[in-house]
Amino acid sequence: MQPDLTLFVGDLSDGDLRLTRRIAALPTTKAVILGNHDRGGDRSGGLLRQQLALLGQHHCGWTRLTWDHLPVSIVGARPCSAGGGFHLSKAVQAVYGPVDLQTSVDRIVAAAAEVPSDQPLIVMAHCGPSGLGSDPESPCGRDWKKPAVDWGDQDLALALDRISQRRHPDLVVFGHMHHALKRGSGIRQSMLRNRSGTAFLNAACVPRSGVNADGLLLLHLSWAEFSGSRLCCLAHRWYTPDGVVRHEERLALANPQPC
Ligand SMILES: [Fe+2]
Repeated sequence: MQPDLTLFVGDLSDGDLRLTRRIAALPTTKAVILGNHDRGGDRSGGLLRQQLALLGQHHCGWTRLTWDHLPVSIVGARPCSAGGGFHLSKAVQAVYGPVDLQTSVDRIVAAAAEVPSDQPLIVMAHCGPSGLGSDPESPCGRDWKKPAVDWGDQDLALALDRISQRRHPDLVVFGHMHHALKRGSGIRQSMLRNRSGTAFLNAACVPRSGVNADGLLLLHLSWAEFSGSRLCCLAHRWYTPDGVVRHEERLALANPQPC
């Protein structure tokens, strides 16, 4: 089955524009949010501007993307986040100006308010929100330095709280925090659902390709299916290069119904 929409959660490369060009040219409906690595070593904002120019209307930072042929839209959170609460890199400040925490929250909330009630409410960020746990294996837990802390984004968490006053988001998807913990100390929890029913997906399986015990090359993609506005499947999938699902790990959803 082909996806209706492909999401790219950022850190496409360390600033190499060739991959960005290839993603922009893909003949598929897509949304991208850039990550902290996408500015490369350039703190001036020049390379980040080039990335944004290549992506054009496909970049969803602080805005909502829509498509005429799809009953779905994507709400973008703060672009280029490095996690850890709220911090704007020099490159981001050069491009977007000195955006403060409240302004970032307001932009995300405003974008979410535009999502029609009959569409799923999907928020995409580079780093996930704070509030998902402070253990090293938490979806946004700091694992590379002790003590382990919640390394999620504060503005995104505040925005999700405000959005939830009107409507609970169906899916929050992000990357940044690699699934494999540092020094071989385990695997991160990458999917969870809170009491309100919002599903959180950390899609940062790094690297995205590898060889299994049988010597077979597999590629990782995360997969979400909706029935109307209801999330009915959320999974990590490992594909063969010709597109066959070889292995799947699913998030157990409350009151599961077929898609
Ligand atoms: Fe990142």
